[in-house]
Amino acid sequence: MATDQIKALEERLKTASDDAINRLAAVTTIDDLRSLQSEVLGKKGSVGSMKSELGRLDSVDAKKEAGAMLNTVTEQLEAAFNTRRDLLEDVAFAQQVAKERLDLTEHLSVARRGHSHLVTQATRRLEDVFTGLGFQIAEGPEVESDFYNFEALNMPKSHPARSMWDTMFVESGEPGSVLLRTHTSPVQIRVMETWKPPIYAIMPGRVFRRDTPDATHMPVFHQIECLVIDRGITFADLAGTIESFTKAFFGGDFTSRLRPSYFPFTEPSAEFDIRRPDGTWIELGGCGMVHPNVLRAGGLDPEEWTGFAFGFGIDRMAKERHGIDDIREMYTNDLRFLRQF
Ligand code: PHE
Repeated sequence: MATDQIKALEERLKTASDDAINRLAAVTTIDDLRSLQSEVLGKKGSVGSMKSELGRLDSVDAKKEAGAMLNTVTEQLEAAFNTRRDLLEDVAFAQQVAKERLDLTEHLSVARRGHSHLVTQATRRLEDVFTGLGFQIAEGPEVESDFYNFEALNMPKSHPARSMWDTMFVESGEPGSVLLRTHTSPVQIRVMETWKPPIYAIMPGRVFRRDTPDATHMPVFHQIECLVIDRGITFADLAGTIESFTKAFFGGDFTSRLRPSYFPFTEPSAEFDIRRPDGTWIELGGCGMVHPNVLRAGGLDPEEWTGFAFGFGIDRMAKERHGIDDIREMYTNDLRFLRQF
């Protein structure tokens, strides 16, 4: 009798347990797992409710045997539920991580943009200021002839002033006849030859001198030349133009001064300095009234036309403006340096 009862119980237990295992395998959420667990192992569950039936068994031995059987199956089911729960928790965590994931990698798909070199920036600003004052921009070649660089600028061959510029010559034609321009002044002649006066021109560009690089010199640097040709131009026009340029470029609290000097292509000649608000001076460049011989070389009649010219270094201005100690820094192509400007 007792064996039949146990057999029947064992059968039902196996059915309930198999059923529970099958359903457990299909469970995909922790909530579903929890309700399945109480449906199976809870007091009224398919397996849990069998405990209450033990009392109805006939013999003590049968109760013991059935009880042990029930415990074993209950433990196995609990273990199966725990394993499934662990798995579902891992999956849920992985899903949450995937959802909350932040991409902190750098955005390399956006092209990194460069910018103009600081000398180019200074040139553009100078051009802006001068075009604002009514000037037009002109350019000339970097490889020049002796004629434009010296001769037409009132420096015939063997003129001692030629040694003011340490010239780099190009091996072409007559020795010494082709060179890298030592200043932007030859563009004055080219403009006079091709434009009709009145002329209000600025001429930026690269110039070359046989110089050893140091903190304030480079063999290749940049100048900007200014040329005005009109009727009745005086030295006061020159001084006034330099002063308005100074204020427009550096600011209203800067002023300029002229000091007597010598250039073969201007008469009288001067050097001009800019005074900072703190009272210190920056030497900027040379200037003067265009020499009659230069007007003639440019095809203009000095009886009819008068003019002034000035020229100065752009690199030095950029150096001044940004407080750079060593001009060579500007040409080492070190991005850590260049990106600051
Ligand atoms: N060309 C001169 C120099 O390089 C500067 C200058 C330009 C002087 C125009 C007078 C007039 O030193």
